[in-house]
Amino acid sequence: MYKIDKILIGTHNKGKFKEISDLLPEKLEKISPIDLGIESPKEDGKTFLENSELKANFFCNKSKLVTLSDDSGLEIDCLDGQPGIFSSRWAAEFGGFDNAMKEILKKVKKTNKDKKAQFVCSLTIQWPDGKKISEIGTIKGNISSKKGNNGFGYDPIFKPKGHKITFGQMKYNKKLGMDHRYIAYKKLEKKIKTYFR
Ligand code: IMP
Repeated sequence: MYKIDKILIGTHNKGKFKEISDLLPEKLEKISPIDLGIESPKEDGKTFLENSELKANFFCNKSKLVTLSDDSGLEIDCLDGQPGIFSSRWAAEFGGFDNAMKEILKKVKKTNKDKKAQFVCSLTIQWPDGKKISEIGTIKGNISSKKGNNGFGYDPIFKPKGHKITFGQMKYNKKLGMDHRYIAYKKLEKKIKTYFR
């Protein structure tokens, strides 16, 4: 069987790159599209799955390397699932994550509804011959006031179900071993671990 000894992690997001690198086997060489001067593709999929597939396809075709890509985001029930696939675009539109989190807290408060939310992650691995496998991971929780400076993105306003602290207050390894990316990766790992050396 053709074994994978290096992999391109198809993201320009440093938080995601680190989490995905730390989930993968240690001896696997991890390459960033930034190292190869590859820009990000336009994300015009309608779902997390469509976006992770299009990113994996784009980065794999450009690099000719086995590529693992992620598309993820925060879905808030009382905002009809927003920001969802637009999670990073909301941050850009509101002028950064601090402002986007403030906006979200305002919007959520205004609805007077409960604060249920979930982080969703779709992971796609693609081989240069076009073979691809995807898995989705979800972690449920609630929107909280902004707490903690750990992690990245919307971590400070998300409290996972069954926990008293936000992802922003959680130690890195604790979040790494339970979040939406971990759940998606564990499903994927079952299907791909025989390809690793
Ligand atoms: P995209 O998948 O590149 O479109 O970006 C997903 C966006 O969702 C990120 O920029 C973050 O805003 C947010 N996001 C995804 N996963 C996480 C996470 O684990 N913690 C915090 N924010 C996240």
